[in-house]
Amino acid sequence: MLVAPSILSADFGRLNEEIRAICDGGADLIHVDVMDGHFVPNLTIGPVVVNAVAKVATKPLDIHLMVENNTFFVDLFAPLKPKYISFHIEEEKHPHRLIQKIRDYGISPAIVLNPHTPVETIEYLLEDLDMVLLMSVNPGFGGQKFIPTVIEKAKRLKKLIEKVNPKCLIEVDGGVGDKNICLLKEAGVDVVVAGNYVFTNASYEKAIKSLQI
Ligand code: DX5
Ligand code: ZN
Repeated sequence: MLVAPSILSADFGRLNEEIRAICDGGADLIHVDVMDGHFVPNLTIGPVVVNAVAKVATKPLDIHLMVENNTFFVDLFAPLKPKYISFHIEEEKHPHRLIQKIRDYGISPAIVLNPHTPVETIEYLLEDLDMVLLMSVNPGFGGQKFIPTVIEKAKRLKKLIEKVNPKCLIEVDGGVGDKNICLLKEAGVDVVVAGNYVFTNASYEKAIKSLQI
């Protein structure tokens, strides 16, 4: 299991140290939550801060867009060379075109599904994706309760992925910790995002390792 700590739960007054600590603690990816105050009722960080993160990070960035104007934000963040950019299917009229745009930048495209969005919605996009992110909370805030229906959803998605694009990864985001990591692993999940669980632990390294099963 790969682990992507979400910096939403980091101490932003000490962001530099926090990024170093999760990279040294063995994080596989750095999960960056970009919220625009429109698609979700919260506002986070833009390219100026993410650029500062990128300079310190020794692990690749996983940018999760929770925004209304995906194309604008892809153009804004692409120069920072993240490994992944993911966008919400609920907010995109032309997902196929946007996937190609992200790939043309040399970035791995990923699509995010809210808890209510069926996996079948993206069946015809799977062959062009490197990762699918399943939300296990309603997007907008860290520290929320895990919605367990995501387990069944991950299993369904895994079956579809095995048919068309077995290299495509499944990522789960929201309320992940040591209580649900085994179920996620059994369901075929490849990457977990963990904000609250990692950043409230006295040892980031221990928290990260406990999820790398
Ligand atoms: C929620 C974000 C998540 C969040 C996860 O909208 O996408 O990445 O920070 O935080 P925890 O692990 O605390 O639920
Ligand atoms: Zn996220």
